[in-house]
Amino acid sequence: MKAVTWQGKRNVSVDNVPDPVLQQDNDAIIEVTSTAICGSDLHLYEVLGPYMDAGDIIGHEPMGRVVEAGSASNLKVGDRVVVPFTIACGRCWMCDRKLYSQCETTQVREQGTGARLFGYSRLYGSVPGGQAQYLRVPHADFGPVKIGEDLPDHRYLFLSDVLPTAWQAVQYADVPKGGTLAVYGLGPIGQMAARIGLHLGARVFGVDPVLERRAMAARNGVEVLDFTSDTNDEIRDATEGRGPDAVIDAVGMEAHGSPIAKAAHTAVGLLPDALGRKMMEHAGIDRLAALHSSIDLVRRGGTVSLSGVYGGEASPLPMLTLFDKQIQLRMGQANVKAWIDDLLPLVEDPADPLGVDDLVTHRLPIDEAPGAYEMFQKKTDGCIKVVLDPQA
Ligand SMILES: NC(=O)c1ccc[n+]([C@@H]2O[C@H](COP(=O)([O-])OP(=O)(O)OC[C@H]3O[C@@H](n4cnc5c(N)ncnc54)[C@H](O)[C@@H]3O)[C@@H](O)[C@H]2O)c1
Ligand SMILES: [Zn+2]
Ligand SMILES: [Zn+2]
Repeated sequence: MKAVTWQGKRNVSVDNVPDPVLQQDNDAIIEVTSTAICGSDLHLYEVLGPYMDAGDIIGHEPMGRVVEAGSASNLKVGDRVVVPFTIACGRCWMCDRKLYSQCETTQVREQGTGARLFGYSRLYGSVPGGQAQYLRVPHADFGPVKIGEDLPDHRYLFLSDVLPTAWQAVQYADVPKGGTLAVYGLGPIGQMAARIGLHLGARVFGVDPVLERRAMAARNGVEVLDFTSDTNDEIRDATEGRGPDAVIDAVGMEAHGSPIAKAAHTAVGLLPDALGRKMMEHAGIDRLAALHSSIDLVRRGGTVSLSGVYGGEASPLPMLTLFDKQIQLRMGQANVKAWIDDLLPLVEDPADPLGVDDLVTHRLPIDEAPGAYEMFQKKTDGCIKVVLDPQA
């Protein structure tokens, strides 16, 4: 089959690789009909190279049709399913508490990390990912979400990651009734977090340096601002001088605006893997511009909710401000299945309350993945969300 594989920094290719096969009786194999590229994939593309191996199949936002169903998979051939990016067993101590991204059955103990994720480096178990024509789905008795036949793929696809991640970010933000929310970063996660905030009744501000990302958010009802030195003052002026009740950081560790960390990122990308890993783990090279801005902006006693992925261990945080402003900080990989019952009716609603019809900017054959990664990273051609078609 064809699959998108990681080859090195800013280098992915489309290769012919062996088809996946059933390994456990609760596995399933799906034929992938749509599979998206995520901001998290850009971290693999740019800074997480020390944890990747050439040839790793990437991708964690797939959906498709079951072509082989293990005897204990609860699926049958022909079922149409979306596959959550977090791999969970559904029955351990963590899963009982709906902390699926911490599943104790699939935790990657040798790395000291949480649940396995599709296509997401040695840190998360080196599980072959979903940007491929076929995908082996472990724990298919719990993970895959069965969906109807009538609506097009893009209505359901974002149940794999973007929507539950954004929903969790808003739940964790804990905006009081009728309150205010600011969202840093208007990539796919920020777009959907902002729209979910509006849907749940908050007043929502969205911040991003990229014009067409602000334009997309604005046409979905978000009050948008560029990222400048005045942004936080403008939002404070609009919130009685206090700042919003909650801020979501949907940017992550590659924020624009911290030149020192950018130099460190570049250095890590160029070091031999073992040294690069040490530097990631111990020096901490996150670019924290969005996180620091979020902490500065949130009102006293408010909540900062991080959905952006962070990687380093020793990045300095403004502890004085965090403590003095009495800030709640919540974060983590999405517990995807915890939110599906809330989201499925919304994506199936003909009125499309979250505007899922307005997110995908590019649908391309899988062969075009290398150019698509470059376009998404450089934000050229108005690119906001790319869906790859493995069957085209
Ligand atoms: N927690 C989870 O489970 C989970 C799941 C999916 C994605 N993520 C993470 O969420 C983040 C966003 O993902 P995405 O797919 O939307 O990616 P993306 O790269 O398209 O979005 C990031 C956005 O942040 C903007 N940005 C950069 N610097 C900024 C700054 N200083 N201020 C304001 N905006 C800034 C960029 O212009 C871009 O629009 C990534 O870090 C990704 O890894 C987390
Ligand atoms: Zn993703
Ligand atoms: Zn579990």
